[in-house]
Amino acid sequence: SLTTTGDLVTRAATTGSAVASFNVITLEHVEAVIAGAESMSAPVVLQVSENAVKFRGGQLLPLARAAVTAAEQAAVPVALHLDHVRSDTLLHQAADAGFSSVMYDAARLPYAQNLAATRAAVARAHAQGLWIEAELGQIGGKNGRPPLDAHAPGARTDPEEARAFVADSGVDALAVAIGSSHAMTTRTAALDHDLLARLSAALDVPLVLHGSSGVPDDELTAAVAGGITKVNIGTALNIALTGAVREFLAERPEAVDPRDYLTLARDAMTQTVARMLKTLGAPTA
Ligand code: G3H
Ligand code: ZN
Repeated sequence: SLTTTGDLVTRAATTGSAVASFNVITLEHVEAVIAGAESMSAPVVLQVSENAVKFRGGQLLPLARAAVTAAEQAAVPVALHLDHVRSDTLLHQAADAGFSSVMYDAARLPYAQNLAATRAAVARAHAQGLWIEAELGQIGGKNGRPPLDAHAPGARTDPEEARAFVADSGVDALAVAIGSSHAMTTRTAALDHDLLARLSAALDVPLVLHGSSGVPDDELTAAVAGGITKVNIGTALNIALTGAVREFLAERPEAVDPRDYLTLARDAMTQTVARMLKTLGAPTA
């Protein structure tokens, strides 16, 4: 059934768990996330990033409609979240397209501009009834962000600055930089648990971990215990998808029907989703 991100995050906070939020690019991602969530009887967030919308020629609706339909038919609660949004046009389309939440990303800007842009986005989001997450202390590894080819595991969110940022912007949740980095293909990130404890003590909004594909299982478990209530996972699904396709085509170079390898790719993503949900101790739906 289709639910809201706000509800899922609140539920996770009260049970000491975290909501897994998976980035979807293709229809197979959508199907795999829901199949994996159903196999674990866990609620889940499907998130579509602005970059994924760009990949679809700037069109939000093709993927959004597929995600809404899949969510409505799912045997577990599923929420839709628009991720890493910078475009006002996209922000305006979110609620009508079935999304209950957005992550507004102005973390690349200096503090004062990030705050001003986020505060304006909060007003627009709340006017549409959307739950809104923002980021402070730029989490590295996003395309187009300097340094282009490097992750920035050194970025950190300052607790006092974060307290002021949350109070002055009115955001519903905050993405924090505590050592994770986007698009890692090895699970080798080391999180700063002491900083997470200080952020958790300083802030009364849910905390979000980005770049979770690069975080080892034990570090994820500790982050959830330390107060992270939304865990964003993208690259892990793409590793599973591409790995399955690569392996199949290496063995069967004469194959042409995409269903042959997309079936395997979707199954591999489903297993990754189930494994991550188990690690996060997601509440049963
Ligand atoms: O917002 C999306 C997440 O931060 C995904 O990061 O692809 O490194 O898992 P990841
Ligand atoms: Zn992210």
